[in-house]
Amino acid sequence: MDRSLSAFGEKLCAHSGILELMDDLGNAMTTHPQMRMMGGGNPAAIPEVQELWRSRLRDLLDNAPDTIDRMLLNYDPPQGNPEFLEAVASCLSKAYGWKLSARNVAITSGGQTALFFLFNILGGPAAQAGQSQGKILLPLVPEYIGYANQGIAHEMFVACPPVIEEIGDHDFKYHVDFDAVEAALKAHTVAAICVSRPTNPTGNVLTDGEISRLSVLAADHGIPLIIDNAYGAPFPNVLFVETTPHWDDNTILTMSLSKLGLPGTRTGIVVASEQTIRQLASLTAVTGLANNNIGQRLVLPLVRSGEILSLSTSVIQPFYREKSDTARQLLEEALGNDIPWKVHVREGAFFLWLWIPGLKCSSRELYERLKKRDVLVVPGEYFFFGLDKGRDTWPHRHECLRITFSQPENVVREGLQIIGDELRRL
Ligand SMILES: Cc1ncc(COP(=O)(O)O)c(C=O)c1O
Repeated sequence: MDRSLSAFGEKLCAHSGILELMDDLGNAMTTHPQMRMMGGGNPAAIPEVQELWRSRLRDLLDNAPDTIDRMLLNYDPPQGNPEFLEAVASCLSKAYGWKLSARNVAITSGGQTALFFLFNILGGPAAQAGQSQGKILLPLVPEYIGYANQGIAHEMFVACPPVIEEIGDHDFKYHVDFDAVEAALKAHTVAAICVSRPTNPTGNVLTDGEISRLSVLAADHGIPLIIDNAYGAPFPNVLFVETTPHWDDNTILTMSLSKLGLPGTRTGIVVASEQTIRQLASLTAVTGLANNNIGQRLVLPLVRSGEILSLSTSVIQPFYREKSDTARQLLEEALGNDIPWKVHVREGAFFLWLWIPGLKCSSRELYERLKKRDVLVVPGEYFFFGLDKGRDTWPHRHECLRITFSQPENVVREGLQIIGDELRRL
């Protein structure tokens, strides 16, 4: 007999479109080795970086058996490994002059868990009777697909469509529509503002001006600004434009070791006020006791010495910049000038965000057609969540694809050629 679930269970165990899609991606990869994988968010295999993590493991095994024993045998405190917290606080303070101590840093099981905790600590039904439910405001969608199902409360997100700046024949850039943001702040009880910077899926990097305006709005409304820095500075620094990293006591910055090539260690890092850090540590204790400590132990000496910053700037960033430039060139060759297409300016992260104005089918249908030809991408509509119903028929949300360019060049070339071919058939 099927047992009925709690509201929490119903919401989080639901068979969402995105779960289906991620299953689809995962299954296709395991059962179809010929599939051209341009859909996932895995970091690329960068030989120099892979060798670095291997040599750190060897070094620990050969020279620090006591450290290995402690790492495997002991639970860390829920907030994270104290030496690692101290090293992160000191590294960021030195790099940016932020006034941080270890009390401003917490570890979570990946950035994904950090955001799940934060959205649900801040948003949802208020603890005090009579107060309305708090929303998480996304000032610019498309935004990271991984947030879409994270709210335990119903309709946790409220989102604003962007202003689209078209640049030349084939480029465009999204900007925050501050009129829409201010209207949303008036219309809803907003508990926090959240942006990913660089943005997954678009590779957009909100300008310093946009970030400082959002920061002022957040402070004026007495709510935090969450900046998801999974691809940002100082590590992994997959940024192709100059930006100023932002943090103050009202900002919650989430970071991760994943895009440094360590997603398997599940290490998220949150930099926030001491109060927020204490709340996150409580949640870790309740839900998981402690976090995985292997990633923290592997990168600790690099954070202490600052080598993590030079690795990011001189190895990881140029690697992805080159991949991004090559992918843009291959896209130009594959799509040519006979079909309308535009790509978001490439300012960071691992993706091309392709817009086909006037696309003759939904991006979901295009995804299915491409999958039949062994090309896996992610349909754009999944990234447009939290918009009000009036936007359901907005054509733009059905006209985009996210294409990952971190795979080898021949895979990207063939994949883009097939995309061009399929668009011509349409
Ligand atoms: C924007 C963004 N935030 C957060 C995450 C979560 O990453 P992790 O949980 O591996 O740190 C990802 C993963 O792809 C991402 O793209």
